[in-house]
Amino acid sequence: MEPALLRAFCDLVHEKAGITLTESKEPLITARLAKRLRALGLTDERQYLNVLEGPAGDDELVHFLDAISTNFTSFFREPDHFEHVTAQVGAWLSEGRRKFRFWSVAASSGEEPYTLAIVLAEAFAGRDIDYRILGTDISTRVLALAREATYTEAQIERVPGPLRHRYFARKTKAGAGGGTYQVVPALRERTTLARLNLAAPPFPMSGPMDIVLCRNVMIYFDQPVRQALVVEIERIMAPGGLLMIGHSETLNGIRTGLRPVQASTFQKPASSEQRRMPAQRAAAGR
Ligand SMILES: C[S@@+](CC[C@H](N)C(=O)[O-])C[C@H]1O[C@@H](n2cnc3c(N)ncnc32)[C@H](O)[C@@H]1O
Repeated sequence: MEPALLRAFCDLVHEKAGITLTESKEPLITARLAKRLRALGLTDERQYLNVLEGPAGDDELVHFLDAISTNFTSFFREPDHFEHVTAQVGAWLSEGRRKFRFWSVAASSGEEPYTLAIVLAEAFAGRDIDYRILGTDISTRVLALAREATYTEAQIERVPGPLRHRYFARKTKAGAGGGTYQVVPALRERTTLARLNLAAPPFPMSGPMDIVLCRNVMIYFDQPVRQALVVEIERIMAPGGLLMIGHSETLNGIRTGLRPVQASTFQKPASSEQRRMPAQRAAAGR
């Protein structure tokens, strides 16, 4: 692809989704755009850019971002986070709390919010708890898959056996691919899926969210987009709530009141701590 054209696509992705693509990703970008060119019967990328910049541009933009985004995910990815979720809700339950909200910020095809749903169903089993899970993503294609909640045998391989039996129902018979399994209605009913562009705060929800998983998405953003995202997530988090980011991500260089509590996990101070902080700073002469 000619450099100016490639630059134009990279700028558009950054402007619309906050995603930073460099020219070194040319083969990947070309391969992903090829699908859209075929779907629209176009012969080159210049024509495609014209479509994006033309009157039907906003509609096509959704498909463009679908094509360009990287959606890799899996059930129980970075499993220590889910162990921490179990421990934290256990602690909150013993304090008498009965209402919780959870948010999978970049939910992709649903594996992350449904892993949360499984872990929470286990933690809350036999109790009357008001809890819900929100899953958001920019890609309508992956959100449709998440709503379908149907996975192959290979996709649910990492779900421990007893949980697989409890929370998945066979949907199609074993064929060459091994059949498919759908997340049971009880978990799907707890989970709301919605489109959200993380690069365009403020977000419509007010929270407060007790645990937020924002994993393996900030790596695609530059520092200003990350900074604005973390500020917005922090606003929506409950005091004492947790933010979990991907193990290959960091909040280094981000101005935030969140405090590290464990590897790639941060806590919003409880309101009482926030109120105490200025006085403590004054006492310390800061
Ligand atoms: C690599 S997946 C991570 C999925 C999951 N959080 C995990 O860790 O397994 C990244 C997801 O971020 C989504 N994404 C990328 N840019 C986004 C944006 N600006 N707003 C919302 N979602 C975005 C992509 O569509 C993709 O589904």
